[in-house]
Amino acid sequence: MRIVLDTDPGIDDALAILYLAAQPEVDLVGVGTVHGNVPADTAAENALRVLELVGWGDVPVAIGARMPMAQPLRTYEYVHGDDGLGNVAGPKPHGKPTAESAVEQLVRLARQHPGELDLLALGPLTNVAVALLVEPELPKLLRKVVVMGGAVWAPGNATAHAEANIYNDPEAADLVLGAGFDLTLVGLEATAHAIANATWLDELAAHDSPRARFASGVLGHYVGFYQPLVGVRQCTLYDPLAAAILLDPGLAAYRELPVHVELRGTHTRGTTVADLRGYRDTEAQRPAVKIAAELDEAEFLDRMLRALRAETVGAP
Ligand code: BDR
Ligand code: CA
Repeated sequence: MRIVLDTDPGIDDALAILYLAAQPEVDLVGVGTVHGNVPADTAAENALRVLELVGWGDVPVAIGARMPMAQPLRTYEYVHGDDGLGNVAGPKPHGKPTAESAVEQLVRLARQHPGELDLLALGPLTNVAVALLVEPELPKLLRKVVVMGGAVWAPGNATAHAEANIYNDPEAADLVLGAGFDLTLVGLEATAHAIANATWLDELAAHDSPRARFASGVLGHYVGFYQPLVGVRQCTLYDPLAAAILLDPGLAAYRELPVHVELRGTHTRGTTVADLRGYRDTEAQRPAVKIAAELDEAEFLDRMLRALRAETVGAP
């Protein structure tokens, strides 16, 4: 399975890379980084670190958009740590980012592998939107796109209504959701069930291997941010769930609806809006996307634990 990853590591982005690395069928042909949890340059350094940890040091890492399309840059070091990896990332990576930008890399790979490449997008959608402007055929060139983003009927996390990846570049997200990709949105209605609780965290901590130690270390920081918010020792595995659903769509069920992004709104900018009334609509509207929900929670958490222990994980 040929995959290009667009990401902003970020603790849960790093764990998503560990998840991919436990799947023998994955052929990761490129990583692009984007502003989001941390600046795009820091995200590239972190991607290189994690790729080296899993033995994927030869996968090219390209830096992409350093800014959203129409708003100031926001980053989230208070969630992910000053270095974006819980301040436990260790030494600098050996590798360097490529000279190509993430947008150039995405367009080039899509043209090289028409109909065979899947995009996993785990950060704000700026690179994907710019790539669409450069190559309007992108929705036909990519086989499928899985986006961690949105909160269509769940509450938001960045604001009361908006999920962070969409909120951090609403204009880009709206372009991508309306472009006609075969697109799955793994939003907060699905990730609400992807919770690493205290028992799961303890099981991970009991395993002694470089990947498990790294995962426990970064998760310690992540949980330290979430625990005061939610009152219990747990955190949400946002990006790993999107990786798992790309590899095995059977882990969730889907509603197919067109989704718009609110671009104005005093309290609602960045909200993903779908018409949930179920009325028949004969007017022309944007293409539907698949909104993941009804997750097989136990199966996902078991696969995730096995992946972080560096065991091979696949669909049964
Ligand atoms: C998303 O926002 C980022 O903070 C996480 O890495 C994830 O991609 C969750 O809303
Ligand atoms: Ca992310």
